[in-house]
Amino acid sequence: MKKCMAANWKMYKLQNDAEETARALVRKLKDKLPSDREVVVFPPFTALSAVYKAFHGQRGFSLGAQNFYPDLQGAYTGEIAPEMLKDLGCSYALAGHSERRHIFEEDNAFISRKFSFGLQNHVNMVLCIGETLKERKHDMLQEVLKQQLAACLNKFPKEIYPSKLCIAYEPVWAIGTGEVAGNQDIVRAHNLVRKILLSYFPEAGSQIRILYGGSVKPDNCAQIIELDNVDGVLVGGAGLSADSFSEIVLAAT
Ligand code: PGA
Repeated sequence: MKKCMAANWKMYKLQNDAEETARALVRKLKDKLPSDREVVVFPPFTALSAVYKAFHGQRGFSLGAQNFYPDLQGAYTGEIAPEMLKDLGCSYALAGHSERRHIFEEDNAFISRKFSFGLQNHVNMVLCIGETLKERKHDMLQEVLKQQLAACLNKFPKEIYPSKLCIAYEPVWAIGTGEVAGNQDIVRAHNLVRKILLSYFPEAGSQIRILYGGSVKPDNCAQIIELDNVDGVLVGGAGLSADSFSEIVLAAT
């Protein structure tokens, strides 16, 4: 199973900066990227083509979209369809990121629609899940992860192979805060996620990648990436610079 080393650029970078960063990443990683790792970058919509130019034809580099609307086309002012993303060279998309859940009030029902629609339209989906600080304090980790996964997995399209799916466990209290979950927290949550995945997919459940996200940096990635059931990382802040993200991608190689 290839480890997925992903950067979410959120609402940062104009086209030139995006293309330069992507080209620098290719330069730094091209000859060093092990065959069991892949790089996925999620730029803002406006920089997708710029990053595509830099990644096109490079083995191990993929492009992802941070969002889309779950329909083929239609009167949805301001929205983007999966077909449009594929047209720009995207093969991945995020769903359920905590910023979408909290700032844009996307609930499990809507996230689940997006998730199934993306998969049915041949986009590899990265489903983000994770508990808030309040839920953590109330010892609700298991319940929250079960609920967030159930909303999407109960409607998992039967014709799709489950390995088209990645889960990103991102404790909300660790996103953009500098607060990293401890190794024990990460292992506990990832083991829980694996158990839930195996209950839905007894065979393929072991092949679904579980990424960790939340203040991943060059100096903590090596220990995180080697933990049990950690099959990659989803990086925000430290994924914006080619220097720090390339260190993260190569951590513990
Ligand atoms: P961070 O963001 O690495 O800046 O904490 C992670 C994310 O939002 O996916």
